[in-house]
Amino acid sequence: RHVNASIGQKSVFAPLVKDANTESILVTVVIGLIVVGVFLYTLKNIAYPKLKPNEPPMVSYWIPVLGSAAWLGIDPFGFYKKCQKEHGDYYQFLLLGKKMVTCLGAEGNNFVFNAKLADASAEDAYKSLTVPVFGKGVVYDVQNSVLMEQKRFVKAGLSNERLQAYAPLIVKEAVDYFARWNKPFGVENIYKASAELTIMTASRCLLGEEVRSKLDESFAQIFHDLDAGFSPINFVFEDLPIPSNRLRDKAHIKMRNFFLDIMESRRKSGTEDRTDIMSYLIKQCQYKDGRRPTDVEAAHMMIALLLAGQHTSSTTSAWAFIFLAENPHLFEQLRKEQINILGSLDAPLTLENVKKLSLLDNVLRETLRIRPPITNMMRKANRDIPIPNTNYVVPKGSYIQAVPVISQRADQYFDNPEQFLPSRWDKYDKDVKVKDDDLVDYGWGAMHSSSAKSPYLPFGAGRHRCIGEAFAYLQIKTIIATFVRLFEIKLHKGKFPNSDYTTLIPQPINPLVDYVRI
Ligand code: HEM
Repeated sequence: RHVNASIGQKSVFAPLVKDANTESILVTVVIGLIVVGVFLYTLKNIAYPKLKPNEPPMVSYWIPVLGSAAWLGIDPFGFYKKCQKEHGDYYQFLLLGKKMVTCLGAEGNNFVFNAKLADASAEDAYKSLTVPVFGKGVVYDVQNSVLMEQKRFVKAGLSNERLQAYAPLIVKEAVDYFARWNKPFGVENIYKASAELTIMTASRCLLGEEVRSKLDESFAQIFHDLDAGFSPINFVFEDLPIPSNRLRDKAHIKMRNFFLDIMESRRKSGTEDRTDIMSYLIKQCQYKDGRRPTDVEAAHMMIALLLAGQHTSSTTSAWAFIFLAENPHLFEQLRKEQINILGSLDAPLTLENVKKLSLLDNVLRETLRIRPPITNMMRKANRDIPIPNTNYVVPKGSYIQAVPVISQRADQYFDNPEQFLPSRWDKYDKDVKVKDDDLVDYGWGAMHSSSAKSPYLPFGAGRHRCIGEAFAYLQIKTIIATFVRLFEIKLHKGKFPNSDYTTLIPQPINPLVDYVRI
């Protein structure tokens, strides 16, 4: 009976139980679907962010989050030019989950470089990369007005008088270095030579002779670990707990202590007065409120200068050498220029003499036109910013970026833009007149406000413009002027090197040259 009852029960209630089960299953399924739907919707919004009306057009992409990263890593110029053809001078693309609004042409350059401080911030764009490397209290870790004061310190530390003192130091470093190429002819990697000479000359001139004398393998390792902090991944994520970031943090402390020890021993020995920037920062600089930079701030500023100048100058001089090796007839012309202007190939390469070498100047300007080391200059939008003369509005939180290399290599602005033609600059200078417009001073030196509208901006423009230009010109021109007195080079096996675009500053890949001692 019991069994039957239960059977009976089962049979009586079976449909109901079945209905209740079905209902709860249905409810579970519906809730599950909603949860999955919301999850997918959120994921989709991260992977394929929704555009607000009036946002610049988005470049289509296949891989969520990564967006256009792969294409950019392989052929950035092809990417920017194709998108410009399709969308015009303003468009955006997704890069590792971030919306990058690209602003091209002279007007696009102006929009980014002259953006108001309240609208767009370089600090917010760069700090996740730079603060752990440079350290606290300097550059993008401080208010913009403090950065402008720190730029004033460094600019004054790179005065004409100091550059005059640096010229013979650079010549000596270059002559000693090239004595290593002691065979009548041979094959060398010109990027390796450029990088080594850059750090030797920059440290000797700016950081001091103690730093230069300690440029051994242990310093190279510290520099390498610190430099590895400038990895694109650190642009996307703040302080990821990965091994390279731990090495970066240790290297930062070692480098800072290295500079602090030198300051200390200079003080003890009463030898603080030198021509280098270290001496200038600790002895002569003062903020507007009367405060002097602390030793730690001075050490962090020196780290920033070392890193700001190293890859920029070394890749630029490497590409200049590569273009010369591709156009070896220029060696004869560069020697003739020295003989005609300076009197002989033995004339001292002083600051004044180096400035007079206009063909050499043009070689450098042309190199920076085709291969500028910094290709993308970014700001983060602090609020919605309308783009002038368009219907577009950049939404708060996006990044805006200028990519002046695109206008620098556009036939709209330069004839035969892909050709290396230093002589084009003689004509360009005659054609372009300095506009009689407002002078602006952000706190470290006045400049024309219209300068940001130029299609040629390898040193940027506006408040964040480079202050290392005069030093970089002296450094690179002096190295090349010394080199042409000693050697001629050709591309090894006629091969023009490719560029590695996966690093923040694109570097030539294994650029071998055949050298002949003259
Ligand atoms: C800023 C290029 C060498 C120190 C910049 C910017 C560019 C640039 C494009 C602007 C970045 C932006 O707007 O986001 C170059 C090139 C160089 C060079 C092409 C060599 C060929 C140097 C050297 C130093 C230096 C040698 C130091 C001695 C700086 C500093 C800034 C700067 C302090 C200011 C950053 C700011 O205000 O946000 N540089 N640079 N640069 N550069 Fe250079």
